Amino acid sequence: MAYQNLISEIKENILYVTINREKALNALNKDTLAELADVIEFAKKTEQVRGVILTGAGEKAFVAGADIKEFSDYNGKQGEDLAKRGQDQVFNAIENSSKPFIAAINGFALGGGLELAMACHMRIASDNAKLGLPEVTLGLIPGYGGTQRLTQLVGKGKAIEMITTANMITASEAEKIGLVNGVVPQADLISKAEEIMNVIKQRAPLAISAAIKSVVAAVKNSDGYTVEIEEFGKCFETADFKEGVTAFIEKRKANFAGK
Ligand code: CAA
Repeated sequence: MAYQNLISEIKENILYVTINREKALNALNKDTLAELADVIEFAKKTEQVRGVILTGAGEKAFVAGADIKEFSDYNGKQGEDLAKRGQDQVFNAIENSSKPFIAAINGFALGGGLELAMACHMRIASDNAKLGLPEVTLGLIPGYGGTQRLTQLVGKGKAIEMITTANMITASEAEKIGLVNGVVPQADLISKAEEIMNVIKQRAPLAISAAIKSVVAAVKNSDGYTVEIEEFGKCFETADFKEGVTAFIEKRKANFAGK
Protein backbone atom coordinates (compact mmCIF):
# COMPACT_ATOMS: atom_id res chain seq x y z
CA MET A 1 0.00 0.00 0.00
CA ALA A 2 1.31 3.40 -0.90
CA TYR A 3 0.66 6.14 1.65
CA GLN A 4 2.00 9.68 1.99
CA ASN A 5 2.28 9.67 5.79
CA LEU A 6 2.58 6.01 6.69
CA ILE A 7 4.94 3.18 5.89
CA SER A 8 3.24 -0.18 5.98
CA GLU A 9 4.45 -3.68 5.26
CA ILE A 10 3.53 -7.23 6.14
CA LYS A 11 6.23 -9.60 7.39
CA GLU A 12 5.44 -13.04 8.73
CA ASN A 13 1.77 -12.21 9.25
CA ILE A 14 2.49 -9.03 11.20
CA LEU A 15 1.48 -5.70 9.69
CA TYR A 16 4.05 -3.02 10.58
CA VAL A 17 2.70 0.52 10.43
CA THR A 18 5.05 3.48 10.91
CA ILE A 19 3.70 7.00 11.12
CA ASN A 20 6.12 8.86 8.93
CA ARG A 21 6.06 12.63 9.55
CA GLU A 22 9.32 12.80 11.42
CA LYS A 23 9.83 16.56 10.94
CA ALA A 24 6.51 17.25 12.68
CA LEU A 25 7.26 14.58 15.33
CA ASN A 26 4.69 12.38 13.57
CA ALA A 27 1.80 14.67 14.56
CA LEU A 28 -1.58 13.40 13.42
CA ASN A 29 -2.94 15.65 10.70
CA LYS A 30 -6.14 14.90 8.79
CA ASP A 31 -4.37 13.04 5.99
CA THR A 32 -2.49 10.81 8.44
CA LEU A 33 -5.72 9.99 10.28
CA ALA A 34 -7.42 9.11 6.98
CA GLU A 35 -4.53 6.84 6.06
CA LEU A 36 -4.60 5.24 9.50
CA ALA A 37 -8.34 4.58 9.06
CA ASP A 38 -7.54 2.93 5.74
CA VAL A 39 -4.73 0.75 7.06
CA ILE A 40 -6.85 -0.36 10.05
CA GLU A 41 -9.56 -1.47 7.62
CA PHE A 42 -6.90 -3.25 5.53
CA ALA A 43 -5.65 -5.10 8.62
CA LYS A 44 -9.21 -6.11 9.46
CA LYS A 45 -10.01 -7.62 6.08
CA THR A 46 -6.62 -9.15 5.21
CA GLU A 47 -6.54 -12.72 6.43
CA GLN A 48 -2.74 -12.87 6.26
CA VAL A 49 -2.49 -10.15 8.94
CA ARG A 50 -2.58 -11.64 12.46
CA GLY A 51 -1.65 -8.47 14.34
CA VAL A 52 -0.34 -4.95 13.96
CA ILE A 53 2.74 -3.21 15.38
CA LEU A 54 2.33 0.55 15.29
CA THR A 55 5.25 2.95 15.77
CA GLY A 56 6.57 6.37 14.77
CA ALA A 57 9.41 7.26 12.41
CA GLY A 58 12.74 8.33 13.89
CA GLU A 59 14.13 8.08 17.39
CA LYS A 60 12.49 11.10 18.96
CA ALA A 61 8.75 10.66 18.81
CA PHE A 62 6.04 8.05 18.58
CA VAL A 63 3.46 10.79 17.95
CA ALA A 64 3.56 14.29 19.51
CA GLY A 65 -0.22 14.71 19.32
CA ALA A 66 -2.90 15.89 16.99
CA ASP A 67 -1.53 18.40 14.49
CA ILE A 68 -1.99 21.63 16.42
CA LYS A 69 -1.33 23.78 13.35
CA GLU A 70 -4.26 22.25 11.53
CA PHE A 71 -6.95 23.02 14.12
CA SER A 72 -5.67 26.36 15.37
CA ASP A 73 -8.71 28.24 13.96
CA TYR A 74 -11.41 25.61 14.59
CA ASN A 75 -14.71 26.48 16.26
CA GLY A 76 -16.62 24.28 18.68
CA LYS A 77 -18.51 22.43 15.98
CA GLN A 78 -15.35 21.78 13.98
CA GLY A 79 -13.59 20.61 17.16
CA GLU A 80 -16.42 18.22 17.95
CA ASP A 81 -16.42 16.87 14.39
CA LEU A 82 -12.64 16.36 14.53
CA ALA A 83 -12.91 14.34 17.76
CA LYS A 84 -15.93 12.34 16.59
CA ARG A 85 -14.43 11.45 13.23
CA GLY A 86 -11.06 10.56 14.77
CA GLN A 87 -12.60 8.45 17.52
CA ASP A 88 -14.92 6.56 15.16
CA GLN A 89 -12.54 5.95 12.29
CA VAL A 90 -9.23 5.46 14.05
CA PHE A 91 -9.16 5.19 17.86
CA ASN A 92 -12.30 3.09 18.41
CA ALA A 93 -11.57 1.16 15.22
CA ILE A 94 -8.22 0.07 16.68
CA GLU A 95 -9.66 -0.79 20.08
CA ASN A 96 -12.52 -2.76 18.49
CA SER A 97 -10.24 -4.60 16.07
CA SER A 98 -10.40 -8.37 16.36
CA LYS A 99 -6.65 -8.50 15.75
CA PRO A 100 -4.19 -7.28 18.38
CA PHE A 101 -2.49 -3.91 17.98
CA ILE A 102 0.75 -3.24 19.88
CA ALA A 103 2.02 0.32 20.15
CA ALA A 104 5.82 0.49 20.09
CA ILE A 105 6.37 3.87 21.74
CA ASN A 106 9.74 5.09 20.51
CA GLY A 107 9.84 8.56 22.10
CA PHE A 108 7.27 11.29 22.84
CA ALA A 109 3.70 9.99 23.09
CA LEU A 110 1.75 13.15 23.80
CA GLY A 111 -1.88 14.16 23.44
CA GLY A 112 -3.34 12.32 20.45
CA GLY A 113 -0.13 10.26 20.38
CA LEU A 114 -0.70 8.83 23.84
CA GLU A 115 -4.38 8.45 22.95
CA LEU A 116 -3.36 6.42 19.91
CA ALA A 117 -1.08 4.22 22.02
CA MET A 118 -3.86 3.77 24.59
CA ALA A 119 -6.32 2.69 21.89
CA CYS A 120 -3.91 -0.15 21.06
CA HIS A 121 -4.30 -3.37 23.02
CA MET A 122 -0.76 -3.25 24.45
CA ARG A 123 2.04 -0.71 24.76
CA ILE A 124 5.79 -1.26 24.87
CA ALA A 125 7.92 1.83 25.44
CA SER A 126 11.55 2.56 24.76
CA ASP A 127 13.47 3.82 27.77
CA ASN A 128 13.67 7.36 26.33
CA ALA A 129 9.88 7.66 25.92
CA LYS A 130 7.93 10.49 27.53
CA LEU A 131 4.19 10.19 27.90
CA GLY A 132 1.52 12.75 28.69
CA LEU A 133 -1.73 14.47 27.85
CA PRO A 134 -0.72 18.14 27.58
CA GLU A 135 -3.96 19.39 25.98
CA VAL A 136 -4.81 21.68 28.90
CA THR A 137 -1.68 23.64 28.01
CA LEU A 138 -3.53 24.48 24.77
CA GLY A 139 -6.82 25.22 26.50
CA LEU A 140 -8.17 21.89 25.39
CA ILE A 141 -8.84 18.52 26.85
CA PRO A 142 -7.96 15.23 25.18
CA GLY A 143 -10.42 14.59 22.35
CA TYR A 144 -9.42 11.20 21.04
CA GLY A 145 -10.65 9.19 24.02
CA GLY A 146 -7.81 10.14 26.38
CA THR A 147 -9.96 11.01 29.40
CA GLN A 148 -11.66 7.62 29.21
CA ARG A 149 -8.77 5.34 28.35
CA LEU A 150 -6.24 6.92 30.72
CA THR A 151 -8.76 6.55 33.56
CA GLN A 152 -9.35 2.92 32.61
CA LEU A 153 -5.64 2.16 32.52
CA VAL A 154 -4.29 4.04 35.53
CA GLY A 155 -7.34 4.91 37.67
CA LYS A 156 -9.14 8.18 38.30
CA GLY A 157 -6.67 9.88 40.65
CA LYS A 158 -3.59 9.43 38.49
CA ALA A 159 -5.53 10.23 35.30
CA ILE A 160 -6.80 13.50 36.73
CA GLU A 161 -3.30 14.35 37.94
CA MET A 162 -1.75 13.70 34.51
CA ILE A 163 -4.47 15.51 32.57
CA THR A 164 -4.78 18.55 34.81
CA THR A 165 -1.04 19.06 35.33
CA ALA A 166 -0.17 18.17 31.72
CA ASN A 167 3.07 16.76 33.12
CA MET A 168 4.93 14.20 31.09
CA ILE A 169 6.01 11.00 32.77
CA THR A 170 8.96 8.77 31.95
CA ALA A 171 8.66 5.27 30.49
CA SER A 172 9.58 3.68 33.83
CA GLU A 173 6.94 5.74 35.68
CA ALA A 174 4.44 4.71 33.00
CA GLU A 175 5.31 1.07 33.59
CA LYS A 176 4.87 1.47 37.35
CA ILE A 177 1.31 2.80 36.97
CA GLY A 178 0.32 0.24 34.33
CA LEU A 179 0.23 2.65 31.42
CA VAL A 180 2.73 0.57 29.43
CA ASN A 181 3.26 -3.18 29.50
CA GLY A 182 7.04 -3.01 29.39
CA VAL A 183 10.10 -0.81 28.84
CA VAL A 184 13.13 -1.76 26.78
CA PRO A 185 16.15 0.00 25.26
CA GLN A 186 15.16 1.75 22.04
CA ALA A 187 17.18 -0.68 19.90
CA ASP A 188 15.10 -3.59 21.24
CA LEU A 189 11.68 -1.96 20.92
CA ILE A 190 10.39 -3.61 17.76
CA SER A 191 11.86 -7.00 18.63
CA LYS A 192 10.10 -6.88 22.03
CA ALA A 193 6.77 -6.12 20.33
CA GLU A 194 7.48 -8.93 17.83
CA GLU A 195 8.25 -11.34 20.65
CA ILE A 196 4.77 -10.76 22.12
CA MET A 197 3.07 -10.89 18.72
CA ASN A 198 4.87 -14.12 17.83
CA VAL A 199 3.47 -15.78 20.95
CA ILE A 200 -0.04 -14.54 20.14
CA LYS A 201 0.34 -15.86 16.57
CA GLN A 202 0.64 -19.40 17.94
CA ARG A 203 -2.72 -19.12 19.70
CA ALA A 204 -6.17 -19.69 18.22
CA PRO A 205 -7.10 -16.60 16.16
CA LEU A 206 -10.82 -16.72 16.90
CA ALA A 207 -10.16 -17.11 20.61
CA ILE A 208 -7.79 -14.10 20.46
CA SER A 209 -10.55 -12.08 18.82
CA ALA A 210 -13.11 -13.23 21.42
CA ALA A 211 -10.69 -12.40 24.25
CA ILE A 212 -10.03 -8.89 22.96
CA LYS A 213 -13.75 -8.23 22.49
CA SER A 214 -14.53 -9.44 25.99
CA VAL A 215 -11.75 -7.49 27.71
CA VAL A 216 -12.66 -4.31 25.82
CA ALA A 217 -16.29 -4.81 26.86
CA ALA A 218 -15.20 -4.83 30.51
CA VAL A 219 -14.20 -1.19 30.35
CA LYS A 220 -17.16 0.05 28.32
CA ASN A 221 -20.64 0.93 29.48
CA SER A 222 -21.86 -2.50 28.59
CA ASP A 223 -22.23 -5.75 30.39
CA GLY A 224 -18.79 -7.20 29.72
CA TYR A 225 -19.56 -10.34 31.70
CA THR A 226 -22.44 -11.20 29.34
CA VAL A 227 -20.28 -10.48 26.31
CA GLU A 228 -17.61 -12.74 27.78
CA ILE A 229 -20.13 -15.56 28.31
CA GLU A 230 -21.37 -15.24 24.68
CA GLU A 231 -17.87 -15.11 23.24
CA PHE A 232 -16.79 -18.01 25.44
CA GLY A 233 -19.71 -20.07 24.10
CA LYS A 234 -18.87 -19.18 20.49
CA CYS A 235 -15.32 -20.47 20.95
CA PHE A 236 -16.70 -23.95 21.55
CA GLU A 237 -18.15 -23.94 18.01
CA THR A 238 -14.75 -23.47 16.36
CA ALA A 239 -12.49 -26.06 14.80
CA ASP A 240 -9.59 -24.38 16.60
CA PHE A 241 -11.15 -25.26 19.95
CA LYS A 242 -11.36 -28.90 18.92
CA GLU A 243 -7.76 -28.80 17.65
CA GLY A 244 -6.52 -27.07 20.80
CA VAL A 245 -8.12 -29.60 23.13
CA THR A 246 -7.07 -32.54 20.98
CA ALA A 247 -3.48 -31.28 20.85
CA PHE A 248 -3.47 -30.90 24.63
CA ILE A 249 -4.71 -34.43 25.12
CA GLU A 250 -2.28 -35.81 22.54
CA LYS A 251 0.56 -33.80 24.17
CA ARG A 252 1.52 -32.05 20.95
CA LYS A 253 1.63 -28.45 19.68
CA ALA A 254 -1.71 -27.21 18.29
CA ASN A 255 -1.94 -26.26 14.66
CA PHE A 256 -4.64 -23.61 14.44
CA ALA A 257 -6.38 -22.80 11.14
CA GLY A 258 -8.42 -19.80 12.26
CA LYS A 259 -11.71 -21.56 11.67
N1 CAA B 1 1.38 19.46 16.01
C1 CAA B 1 2.02 20.05 14.99
N2 CAA B 1 3.36 20.17 14.92
C2 CAA B 1 4.07 19.66 15.95
C3 CAA B 1 3.47 19.02 17.05
C4 CAA B 1 2.05 18.91 17.05
N3 CAA B 1 1.38 18.29 18.02
N4 CAA B 1 4.44 18.64 17.91
C5 CAA B 1 5.61 19.01 17.37
N5 CAA B 1 5.39 19.64 16.19
C6 CAA B 1 6.38 20.21 15.27
C7 CAA B 1 6.93 21.53 15.83
O1 CAA B 1 6.04 22.59 15.51
C8 CAA B 1 8.24 21.60 15.10
O2 CAA B 1 8.01 22.01 13.78
P1 CAA B 1 8.92 23.20 13.12
O3 CAA B 1 10.32 22.61 13.08
O4 CAA B 1 8.29 23.38 11.77
O5 CAA B 1 8.80 24.36 14.04
C9 CAA B 1 8.72 20.15 15.05
O6 CAA B 1 7.54 19.36 15.22
C10 CAA B 1 9.71 19.79 16.14
O7 CAA B 1 9.12 20.14 17.40
P2 CAA B 1 9.86 21.08 18.49
O8 CAA B 1 10.78 22.00 17.81
O9 CAA B 1 8.80 21.64 19.36
O10 CAA B 1 10.71 19.98 19.27
P3 CAA B 1 11.21 20.05 20.78
O11 CAA B 1 12.18 18.93 20.95
O12 CAA B 1 11.61 21.40 21.16
O13 CAA B 1 9.87 19.71 21.65
C11 CAA B 1 7.84 18.52 22.15
C12 CAA B 1 9.25 18.47 21.54
C13 CAA B 1 7.94 18.70 23.67
C14 CAA B 1 7.16 17.20 21.85
C15 CAA B 1 7.06 19.72 21.56
O14 CAA B 1 7.13 19.62 20.15
C16 CAA B 1 5.62 19.79 21.93
O15 CAA B 1 5.28 20.20 23.04
N6 CAA B 1 4.68 19.42 21.00
C17 CAA B 1 3.27 19.55 21.19
C18 CAA B 1 2.73 18.49 22.14
C19 CAA B 1 1.25 18.68 22.38
O16 CAA B 1 0.80 19.69 22.90
N7 CAA B 1 0.43 17.69 21.97
C20 CAA B 1 -1.00 17.73 22.11
C21 CAA B 1 -1.63 18.19 20.85
S1 CAA B 1 -3.35 18.53 20.99
C22 CAA B 1 -4.12 17.05 20.87
O17 CAA B 1 -3.51 16.02 20.70
C23 CAA B 1 -5.64 17.15 20.91
C24 CAA B 1 -6.37 15.87 21.00
O18 CAA B 1 -6.35 15.15 21.99
C25 CAA B 1 -7.27 15.50 19.91
